[in-house]
Amino acid sequence: MDPAEFGISTTPLHHAPYGPITPEALAGANTSKVALITGAARGIGAAIAESLAKSGANVAILDLDIERQADTQQKCAAHGVKVGVYGCDVTDEQTLLATLDQVEQELGPVDVLINNAGILSQRPLLISTFPSFWRQIEVNFKAPLLLTHALLPRFLSRGGTGCIINIASRSGTVDVPMTMGYVTSKAALIRGTHTLQKELGLDGLDEGVGVYALHPGGVFTGMGGSGAEEDVRERYGGVGVGDEEGFRELFRDGPELCGQTCAWLASGRGRELRGFYLDCRQDVRKLLEYGREAMLKEKRNTLGVNFLDGYCNEP
Ligand SMILES: NC(=O)c1ccc[n+]([C@@H]2O[C@H](COP(=O)([O-])OP(=O)(O)OC[C@H]3O[C@@H](n4cnc5c(N)ncnc54)[C@H](O)[C@@H]3O)[C@@H](O)[C@H]2O)c1
Repeated sequence: MDPAEFGISTTPLHHAPYGPITPEALAGANTSKVALITGAARGIGAAIAESLAKSGANVAILDLDIERQADTQQKCAAHGVKVGVYGCDVTDEQTLLATLDQVEQELGPVDVLINNAGILSQRPLLISTFPSFWRQIEVNFKAPLLLTHALLPRFLSRGGTGCIINIASRSGTVDVPMTMGYVTSKAALIRGTHTLQKELGLDGLDEGVGVYALHPGGVFTGMGGSGAEEDVRERYGGVGVGDEEGFRELFRDGPELCGQTCAWLASGRGRELRGFYLDCRQDVRKLLEYGREAMLKEKRNTLGVNFLDGYCNEP
C-alpha cells in the first residue's frame, strides 16, 4: 500500500492526546455515565475503555476474548469507577442483546456506546470463502447496528440523550485491494452514521443524541500486525495492506489518541461534530472553529461522491 496514493495531509496531525483531549482536561467529564465498549480486551478498545474510566465513566468491557479482559478491567478499575466484563460474540444477536440487558442491570443505563470490535481479513474476494468474507460485515457493521437499534428506544425513553461512537477506518473511504469485506463494512458504518444522525432529528433526538464515525489513526495492534496468510502472500506478493513490517512503518499512532478523543466526544464537548466522520489525528479545536454550519454546507467530513466539476449528485 502506497500512502501517497491516498493523499498526504498538509496540516499537522496529532499522534498523541493534546490540549482539550488530555486526561487532565477531561477529568470528571463523564462522571457517573455508563459506557459500553465492544472489543475492549485489547488494542484500541482497551485504550478507549481506560480513557472513559479516567474521565469518570463506569465501563462495560465486552469482548470475545475473555482471558485478556482482566488486564483492561484492572487498568480501568484503578481509576475508581465500576467495571463490568462481559464475554460475548457481537455477531450473536441473542447473546449480544442479553448482554446489553445484563450491563444495564449491573452498571445502570448505558449512556455511551462505542462500537469498536472489528476484524480484517486480507484476502481477495475471488479466493475467499463467502462466510469468512461476510463475517467481516457482521462484526464491523451488523453488530454496531444491532446495539444501536437496541439502544435508541432506551435513549428516547430516558430523556433523549446518548452518544454512539462508531470506530470506522480510513479504509472506508479508499480502495484497498484484498480488504473487500473491511472497506465495505467501514464505508457502510460511516454512511450509516451520517444518515442516522439525520433520522434522529425526526424524533427530536438530534440535539441530545450524537452519533460519530471515528478513524482511530494508524495503531499497530493485533489486527493488522499478522499480515495476510501465507497462501495470499505467495500469490500476490506485497499487494494490499502488507505484512507486519509494513504495518509497523505505517501505523504509528498511540491508541490513547483515539481513547481520549472518545472520552471527549462522550463528554458532549464535541456535540457540534455529530453525524460527521472524524479522524482523531485532526485537531478537534480546528473543526469546532470551522463550525457545524459550514461543514454541513460544504459536505466536509462526509463520505460522498465527487463528480467532475459542474455535475452534481442531484436526485
Ligand atoms: N489498528 C488500526 O490502525 C486501525 C485503523 C483503522 C480502524 N481500526 C478499527 O479499530 C477497531 C479496533 O481495532 P484494533 O486495531 O484495536 O484491533 P484488535 O484486533 O487489536 O482488537 C479488536 C478486538 O475486538 C475483539 N473482537 C473481534 N471480533 C469480535 C466479536 N465477534 N465479538 C466480540 N469481540 C470481538 C477482539 O477479540 C479484540 O479484542 C476496529 O474496529 C478496527 O477496524 C483500527
